[in-house]
Order: sequence, then structure tokens, then C-alpha cells
Amino acid sequence: MEDTFRFMKTGYYSTWLEIDLGAIKNNIQKIQEISNHSVMAVVKANAYGHGIIEVSKAVQEAGAAWLAVARLEEALTLREAGNQGKILVMGYTSPQQALTASLHDISLAVYDLDIALAYSQVVTKENAILKVHVKIDTGMGRLGVFPEAGVEFFEKLHTFPGIYVEGIFTHFARADEPQLGETVRQIERFDQLLSDLSRRGIRPELAHASNSAGLLYFPKGGYDMVRAGIITYGLNPSAEAPVPDTFLPALSLKATLTSVKMLPKGHGVGYNHRYTTQAVERIGVIGVGYADGFRRRLGGIALVRGKRVPILGTICMDQCMIQLDSVPEAEIGDEVVLIGAQEAEMISVDELASIWGTINYEVVCAMAARVPRIYKD
Ligand SMILES: Cc1ncc(COP(=O)(O)O)c(C=O)c1O
Repeated sequence: MEDTFRFMKTGYYSTWLEIDLGAIKNNIQKIQEISNHSVMAVVKANAYGHGIIEVSKAVQEAGAAWLAVARLEEALTLREAGNQGKILVMGYTSPQQALTASLHDISLAVYDLDIALAYSQVVTKENAILKVHVKIDTGMGRLGVFPEAGVEFFEKLHTFPGIYVEGIFTHFARADEPQLGETVRQIERFDQLLSDLSRRGIRPELAHASNSAGLLYFPKGGYDMVRAGIITYGLNPSAEAPVPDTFLPALSLKATLTSVKMLPKGHGVGYNHRYTTQAVERIGVIGVGYADGFRRRLGGIALVRGKRVPILGTICMDQCMIQLDSVPEAEIGDEVVLIGAQEAEMISVDELASIWGTINYEVVCAMAARVPRIYKD
């Protein structure tokens, strides 16, 4: 009876994410203190894997004035969940979706006059107004109007009916690097355009530029609002641009130990037998795989009963194997940590990113939709 009850207390899910909304609220407060500006919390990509609906509510409770997403679909998810906050779509939106954006009071990025004219034609037919933020390419080489063409762009845009120019923004390409020069130049180009627009009386009310690294390291790039992505989640923009230690990581990835058994010496483990036991070995199976966003790569680590253990062989779609010789007391139902802390041990998102040869952004954004998110405050 005792034993059966043990399975009811642990191992409810094969794998799950624990999201600490208290950490996210703490981080938004720290961003406000550091930058002394309004905060636009970047919640695209399912809030960097953390869960867009719950995270958006938390950041707003902590004082974030705006939410930013990459696509209209993400903004609509928020509206469907009843979120009435201010939202900017920073990427491309089709003119066919402009009316939907307008009706849901969602602001769009514009960077091309033909697209903006199409927006104008679509919304004026329905007597609607579309709010836009003009994207300026001060050095990113991605979406945006070049600063030299900015004044003419604004002058034309102001002749388009149904378009209300609410903001202007740019994006830093290299604010997370030790070399400061390029970001300083981006700020100078943006400043120049803003003063040209001010002189003509057409500077929009909201100018914003800084991403996480920008707001930490370039106070001159603060303008009216900062766009905080990765540091909202307590993660470092890069190794060269770490977050202060008052920021708290919010995400842990956990899995249940679903099998423990002894394999004889020379036994293959998993697909293609990319690991073979060296002796009689105690092998565990955990319920996390590449379909959960856990990369199909050799050489990971997991925490079991506070100890680091190696992941063996190829990660399967829904499961992978771990070596339990150093943890003889491990048993089915144990909680295994893939990201986060267990007792005195800790695997950070950065550590996993380095094993996978990528950056922390990609690790968290890749966490699959099927993985349940468990929220705590
Ligand atoms: C336009 C724009 N602004 C802000 C951000 C947030 O960047 P970070 O997560 O580095 O703060 C991003 C993220 O990629 C972005 O594309």
C-alpha cells in the first residue's frame, strides 16, 4: 500500500516544466529599477517556452506596460485568453490580417510603404484605425527602414488614412558583445532620426530600442520604453553580457524515472546502440525525449537524488536512458532534473546550451507545447 501511494505522489507526468512566476515578477521589477523606463515584456515564442498566457499576466501584474510578440497569431492567443493589455507585433503581418489586428486593438510593426498602404486600404474600408510602430534598421540588417529614409517614410505614412503612428523602434544587433562600438553607432543613428522627426513635429510618442543586453549595458538606449526578452526569464543575454545576480531563472525541466534495471556487460542501450555497457550497469529510463524539445544529442547530464548522472546513447522521441551506478538508491517514480536545481546540484540553461552547442534562447524556446507547464508564484 505504502509503495503504491509513492507513485501517486511523484511521477504524475513523464516530463514537465516548472515555471516560477514569482521569479518572473522579480525580474520585471529589477528591469524597471535598472532602466527607469516603461517595460515592454517580450513574450513571443510562447514566452520563450515559459507559457505566453500565464507569463503575460505575471509581467503585467509586475508592472510591464506592453507585451511584444513576433506574430499576430501570438497576439490573438493573448486576446482569446482575455488579455486586454497593449500588444505590439514586431514581425511581418499580412495586409489580409490588418483588420483583425485593428479590431483586437493590436499594434503592428511597419517598415515598408506598400505594405502600410495595403493596411490603410483594408482598415479604411471598415472605418477602422490601425496603430503602428515604424521599424528602423539602424544596423541589424533585418526588417526596417534605413534611418536616412526615415523622415520621408514618416511623411508619406502620415498621409495614409486609417493609420495611427504610435511608435518608432529599432533593434540592436550586437549589444551582448564586449565591443561597444556598433551599439553606440546604432544609438547615434536612431538619435539623429528622432531629432529630425522632432524638428518636423512628427516624432511618435513611443520610441524604443533596447533588448535585454541593451538595457543592462547601454542606458542611453532607453528612450521611452525597453523591450526585455531573455532577462525577463532570468537568463543571460550572453556569457559576455550576464544578468546581475538579483535576477532569478524561472524555468526547470523535470522528468520521472520510469524504469530501473541492471543490464549485463556488453549490452547495447537505445537506438543504434550508441552506448554499450562496460560492465553490469544500473540503467534508468526517464520520460523526456526530443519531441519534448530535449535535443537528440549524445552526452547530456541529469540530476537524480542530488547527484549528476550521465545520459546514455541516443535520445529517443519520448524517453532517454541514464546511468544510475552512482545512485543505487534511485527508484521508479523519482524526480529527475534536466534543467534547474536538485539538492545542492544545479544544471543551468546555459550549461545545457553549451552541451548542445547552442544558446540559452534556443533551449527554452524549443520546449515543446506538449510538455505540461506547472506554475508557481
Ligand atoms: C525586435 C526584438 N526586440 C526585442 C527582443 C528581445 O531580445 P532579448 O531576448 O535579447 O531581450 C527581440 C528578440 O529576439 C526582438 O526580435
